[in-house]
Amino acid sequence: GKGGHRHFMLKEIYEQPAVIGDSLRTFLDPARGTIEMKEMPFDPGRLTRMLIVACGTSAYAGMVAKYWIEQLARLPVDVDVASEFRYRDTPLTAGEVAVFISQSGETADTLAAMRHARAGGVVTIAVVNVPESSMAREADLVLRTKAGPEIGVASTKAFTCQLVTLVCLAISLGRARGTIDTARDQKLTQAIAEVPSRVADVLNNDGRMRSIAESLVHVTGVLYVGRGTAFPIALEGALKFKEISYIHAEAYAAGELKHGPIALIDDGLPVVALAPSGPLFDKTASNIEEIVARRGRVILITDEAGAARLSDLVAEVVVLPTVDPVVAPLLYALPVQLLAYHTAVLKGTDVDQPRNLAKSVTVE
Ligand code: M6R
Repeated sequence: GKGGHRHFMLKEIYEQPAVIGDSLRTFLDPARGTIEMKEMPFDPGRLTRMLIVACGTSAYAGMVAKYWIEQLARLPVDVDVASEFRYRDTPLTAGEVAVFISQSGETADTLAAMRHARAGGVVTIAVVNVPESSMAREADLVLRTKAGPEIGVASTKAFTCQLVTLVCLAISLGRARGTIDTARDQKLTQAIAEVPSRVADVLNNDGRMRSIAESLVHVTGVLYVGRGTAFPIALEGALKFKEISYIHAEAYAAGELKHGPIALIDDGLPVVALAPSGPLFDKTASNIEEIVARRGRVILITDEAGAARLSDLVAEVVVLPTVDPVVAPLLYALPVQLLAYHTAVLKGTDVDQPRNLAKSVTVE
């Protein structure tokens, strides 16, 4: 059942603190305070790049992982949507490693991409939520997310469970490659261990997201912006929004605004800006100033320091807990889920089964 919630999607949003914790426990050794990944079927020290392939929301989890793996393990990562990867005829090298991310483990394009890579001698890792799925059976290494059954067509808890699994992969790779020092490792492990409680704190903003949604029901479009790992979260926010509210939404890396999309800005296009404190905050802040100068209505999602800097400027501010920038995407994923959910409910769409969509895309 829906556990007292009106929709499966809302139930699944609220399950996130628990299932992120479950997914994390596979890797986190509480006694030793370390993140451990079981035997990797390759030598991390010898890798020169990693491939990540997926579709939809799972591909956005892959984009976040690219930032993590490049930063923490100093390993270049190529991310592709499966429908492009499988037909592009890209050169593959035997012994290189590719990660395939899928909630269902059955997505036709991702499964075909995995088979294609395997045939080329590539070591395959599947990050899957359904343990008996085709991808789980065929991959060389399976990293299981523990989201539990996800019923809502719009993916929510599967996404954040993928993220927490991928950050553990990035740290494990970094440790194996000697690119994270012990102090950083300990600090990061601590920050990751606290994610389930911080995510629970984020859910306290639900009422706030609902009231902001009231201002979005009649708009014709929404723009999402962010930098660094907040960029793929912006992409995911826009996908979620269009999937269930049927209102056009798109996302840009904030630094790309002046290369075109800033022409759209006026008081009729709300902009959701994702701006956690961290090395990129000032850059995003100046983009927000540019949007406001053109009468853009900014819905800012940030932390206390960010709110102190920008709350006078923006129309709305949502304040999330202050966390290590590495784990921020795990928190910022939730308000954009809630914003999409409440807008869709207010519009009266079929939230759990949006038109034209299927939960598992088993044909290409
Ligand atoms: O089962 P998968 O993770 O392979 O599914 C991939 C996409 O079809 C899926 O994430 C889709 O984009 C969702 N409807 C997003 O909410």
